[in-house]
Amino acid sequence: MSRSGKVTVVGAGFYGSTTALRLAEYNIFETVVLTDIVEGKPEGLALDINQSRSIEGFETKVVGATTTADGQGYEATANSDVVVITAGLPRKPGMSRMDLIGVNAGIVRGVAENIAKHSPNAVLIVVSNPLDEMTALAQIASKFPHHRVMGQAGMLDTARFTHFVAEKLNVPVASVKTLTLGSHGDTMVPVPSRCTVDGKPLSEKLSAAEIEELVTRTRNGGAEVVALLKTGSAYYAPSAAAARMARAVIQDTGEVMPVCAWVDGEYGISGVYLGVEAEIGRSGVKKVVAGNLTDSELAELKVAAEAVRAKQADVKDL
Ligand code: NAI
Ligand code: 2OP
Repeated sequence: MSRSGKVTVVGAGFYGSTTALRLAEYNIFETVVLTDIVEGKPEGLALDINQSRSIEGFETKVVGATTTADGQGYEATANSDVVVITAGLPRKPGMSRMDLIGVNAGIVRGVAENIAKHSPNAVLIVVSNPLDEMTALAQIASKFPHHRVMGQAGMLDTARFTHFVAEKLNVPVASVKTLTLGSHGDTMVPVPSRCTVDGKPLSEKLSAAEIEELVTRTRNGGAEVVALLKTGSAYYAPSAAAARMARAVIQDTGEVMPVCAWVDGEYGISGVYLGVEAEIGRSGVKKVVAGNLTDSELAELKVAAEAVRAKQADVKDL
């Protein structure tokens, strides 16, 4: 198998380290770089992952690099094709994603500036919370064109919805298709009209009340895991989501994925980072795809857009 390209994962916590592992195990990148401000942590994790290569059968090399807030150590990330930004604090039980905005904004701004300096042509995939605001901030701080900065949320929220539907109906996850749009927060917009089981509408399999129950559980999917873990937040499903996005970029697949992307006219919405479906490829977001929505789903998406627009307007000052 031929391998090419370099992907950097910033932040070697739970999300970052599991993302680096998944990306390495794909065996499609030449190099995966993992960074953190905690001295030795990224180097230690990289060494550990590299030592699994002969067992799992992949050749991608993982490089760990300690960085500092003022930009030391970023040379190791130079000329990355894709950068996944996971640096920042996770939630504690009872906290909302928005409670993280003050501290994570400082971290994400610094990271985006340093990455832009060393990898001016990279595609950025932001995962730090609050997601929609941190994605907007990373674009401002990096000064990259909007299409080269996107956020991961919809892939995860959609996967959670799919899992809940499959579990409820006791069917394989592969037979279920779901979709969530909107924000990675209270104004997440699950889209039941685009959900199917074995190609049949979800509404033929579950009552409206049952669908609503699963929608609510999806909206609270992150908080449910946080409450069980008691410290930190989810990372297995989140890292799968971000890694798939990075793979779509480096392989220029053109896959349509639910991501947080810059919306400029689609659905009658403009000038905001929002969870929508988009074609992902080497240039980042190749195109936002405005699929069919019912009137009420479209109305909910517009409410989500206005809610995140108000919060994103403030991020430039953070
Ligand atoms: P974690 O606490 O395990 O790891 C965060 C890491 O970031 C730590 O190792 C920390 O030292 C590092 N870090 C802090 N400042 C840094 C900087 N300037 N440069 C490089 N590294 C830095 O947290 P976890 O679980 O990995 O979560 C990371 C972020 O992802 C959180 O903000 C969390 O809320 C978010 N998240 C987002 C999801 C999404 O769907 N978008 C899902 C799950 C988590
Ligand atoms: C999640 O949805 C906390 O955003 C994180 O798991």
